[in-house]
Amino acid sequence: MCGIVGYIGSQQAYPILIEGLKRLEYRGYDSAGVALQNGKIHVYKKRGKVVELENFVGDAGVNATVGMGHTRWATHGEPSDLNSHPHSSRSGKFALIHNGIIENYAVLKEKLSRHGYTFESATDTEVLVQLIDFFSNEGAHNAEEAVRLALHEVVGAYGIVVMASDEPDQLIVARKGSPIVLGIGEGEYIVASDAAPIIAYTKDVIYLEEEGMAILRKDGYEIKTIGNIPRTPLLERIEMELETIEKGGYDYFMLKEIMEQPRSIAESIRGRVNKDNGVVWLGGLVDVQDRLRNARRVIFVACGTSWHAGLVAEYLFEDFARIPVEVEYASEFRYRNPIIYPDDVVIAISQSGETADTLAAIQLAKEAGALVMGVVNVVGSSIARGTEAGVYIHAGPEIGVASTKAFTSQVTVLTLMAVYIAQLRGTATPEMRSAMKELLNVPALVEKILESNDYIHSIAEEFRDATNFLYLGRGLNFPVALEGALKLKEISYIHAEGYPAAEMKHGPIALIDANMPVMFIATKDESYDKIVSNLQEVVTRGGRVIAVVSEGDTNIRDLAEFVIEVPQTNPLLTPLLTVIPQQLLSYHIAMMRGCDVDQPRNLAKSVTVE
Ligand code: G6P
Repeated sequence: MCGIVGYIGSQQAYPILIEGLKRLEYRGYDSAGVALQNGKIHVYKKRGKVVELENFVGDAGVNATVGMGHTRWATHGEPSDLNSHPHSSRSGKFALIHNGIIENYAVLKEKLSRHGYTFESATDTEVLVQLIDFFSNEGAHNAEEAVRLALHEVVGAYGIVVMASDEPDQLIVARKGSPIVLGIGEGEYIVASDAAPIIAYTKDVIYLEEEGMAILRKDGYEIKTIGNIPRTPLLERIEMELETIEKGGYDYFMLKEIMEQPRSIAESIRGRVNKDNGVVWLGGLVDVQDRLRNARRVIFVACGTSWHAGLVAEYLFEDFARIPVEVEYASEFRYRNPIIYPDDVVIAISQSGETADTLAAIQLAKEAGALVMGVVNVVGSSIARGTEAGVYIHAGPEIGVASTKAFTSQVTVLTLMAVYIAQLRGTATPEMRSAMKELLNVPALVEKILESNDYIHSIAEEFRDATNFLYLGRGLNFPVALEGALKLKEISYIHAEGYPAAEMKHGPIALIDANMPVMFIATKDESYDKIVSNLQEVVTRGGRVIAVVSEGDTNIRDLAEFVIEVPQTNPLLTPLLTVIPQQLLSYHIAMMRGCDVDQPRNLAKSVTVE
């Protein structure tokens, strides 16, 4: 949440910052701002998206080779020009951008007020910049020391960049809890919340460590801790190509990412399944094989769509590996004083690898001595670095705020993990091996479903004005129902609920009338007959039914108003297929309603605050 970017070098900073902010905009888009340094600090900030800021700055043309920018997801203080970052100290000496939350800002604000400080915004961030100013006046030797003294008083999470007007050729960077990546170029440095703004300039990066600090100057840089202990920087090379973070001919990232799924699923499988015998190999789990073999239980911790992937995995892990599974919202788990045994395996599922609650949940699990693993997309992210073992999903950058290809890649990798652990625990069967051989064919099946795009568009026309939607599924398709409902509400703002189909009779059936569209996910599996009965119950009560069914199902075709077919496959793999029509339907309905599918209101892709 919130994107930060800073530049110091010999090029004009402003265009680099604006381009960087556009690449980070998926992290928050309530407001944007830049600070540029040329003798004095010039700050421009505006409520709304980065393009509003660009229009506002126009051709003001500040000639500066040092600067920083911010795109905000509002926490403290409504989205407004005043509450936008950068924030400046009252003396004008310091400017600061911040991603995170200063939890004790009220106490600090009171302290500063007693010293005559006044505040113009309602943000926690302004308190921090004034606190830096305070320590500067109290005799700190330089800006860096003032920042360090201020950070010692702060409780909360931050990724910050600070500029000081009287030390113009320098950016001061620090992090605790919020991610910071430093791009190390030739005579220039770019600091950002993630690698996206950096890769056009350099592939050499340093992931700033927790409670780390960096001083970037035109002629070099220093890495240290917030406690001023020098650290030897670990320079890493990132393997991200620019085209993977561009729209590549599509109008929206979300559509691009939906359409990309045959490739992204294939990437998740690549090199991990032996096509001749269906045996699974996961290099990231080799070192923890013994602990997996002897594990008492698996606990998945995740949020949002990743939590839905965990629900799918629950079925698969229990079925394949015969190991008890719990699936927890990370935010609930961490505050519940949960019972965690040293022989538990806690698996964090996270696209971004930065979700604050998920990070906190794995910290708790680590302290309890459990084996902590990650199923993560973003290479080098905090969860990837903070877990003992794990499997990258390799879906490639996902930029649309509503997750699509990350879900299918998470489910793919979790399916592989379930079989891998079954192999270790001796519960693998020939059926599982044949399912793995079928998994290799899933990308082609997804490709086929994507050909229904025009038909799904025509279904969307019918339901574009709906105010409610019900999604029903059983077994492995229950989490898909939850995911379908989440996609629709996230991007089209239609109220939608997902339910296990059998639970319909315990409440949601009361909602059914001619205005209630009901999406049934009813592929051929062991509960097929039961779900057909549920479907009939809805039809009898006048509900409008859309059904996702197995190819060739004529039974449901006679009952439902609209039928979307998915190819036949092993029932254990069906979520990878049945979720695709859900994504497309939500996308088209949202587009027809004029919604911004890539940046839906109030949401952010990377939830780095608790
Ligand atoms: C946000 C995003 C969702 C995502 C969730 C968890 O809510 O909008 O798309 O599923 O965070 O994020 P993570 O990066 O941990 O998977």
